[in-house]
Amino acid sequence: MKRKIHHHISLTSTNKIAFKLALQGASDGEVVRAEGQKCGRGRLGKAWHSPAGKGLYFSLIVRPRLVNEDYPKITMTTGLAIAQVLENLCGLDVQLKWPNDIFLSGKKCCGILTEASVTSSGEGDRFAVIGIGLNVLMEEQDFDQALTDSATSLLLETGIRYSMDNLLMTICDEIEYHLTKLENEGFSPILQGWKKRDCLQGRLLRWVTNNGKVVEGVSQGPNKDGCLLVRDREGILHQVISGDISIASSE
Ligand code: BTN
Repeated sequence: MKRKIHHHISLTSTNKIAFKLALQGASDGEVVRAEGQKCGRGRLGKAWHSPAGKGLYFSLIVRPRLVNEDYPKITMTTGLAIAQVLENLCGLDVQLKWPNDIFLSGKKCCGILTEASVTSSGEGDRFAVIGIGLNVLMEEQDFDQALTDSATSLLLETGIRYSMDNLLMTICDEIEYHLTKLENEGFSPILQGWKKRDCLQGRLLRWVTNNGKVVEGVSQGPNKDGCLLVRDREGILHQVISGDISIASSE
């Protein structure tokens, strides 16, 4: 399929521009890509450091045949798709950290920020923008100082300078393949593939709830709805929908 790509040298955020285009009627499969971003956005209001020419920064517009309740599963579906590309193309051992991070050798290499518009009643008006930031050519000095111990890139892991154009096309195709699977077969096969790569399973976690409470517990992995299950010291099972998860230092 010939894909429409809106290529920019520099812009604020590919997610922001893609969201606007989708509201104006952009088609399923269109991509906004930038060589660098001035205001790259991460989850939970964080910034995504986007130095020019070092990473792959893009947003894929999708209009999947899913009920609104299934839209949150798009992020985990995308994570699995990217993991499979990095395994098959680069021969890497990939771990997934709930809900949206891709790790190599215990360090973050890629993040996903999905933003959706599902409020409209008309099925044709609903869409999601899947924003992906993949560290491709970063060397240690290219990361923000605060990230040098926790971030990595394909170059640092393999010594190979992978083509961003090829990665972009392969990742988009693989995401669409997995989204079609989600539409046709449901979440179960995606969840199965995702759990095989889950780096938090059985680990003691700490997370901050949406009302600011800090909770600790052992990860039981994501459930059939994509929520993370965590059992605390009292044996209470928590269903985490969103929030910032970290490995507890007391583990
Ligand atoms: C995260 O790990 O917090 C998600 C990071 C997502 C970053 C990408 S880069 C391309 C797209 N445009 C943005 O502004 N953010 C996403």
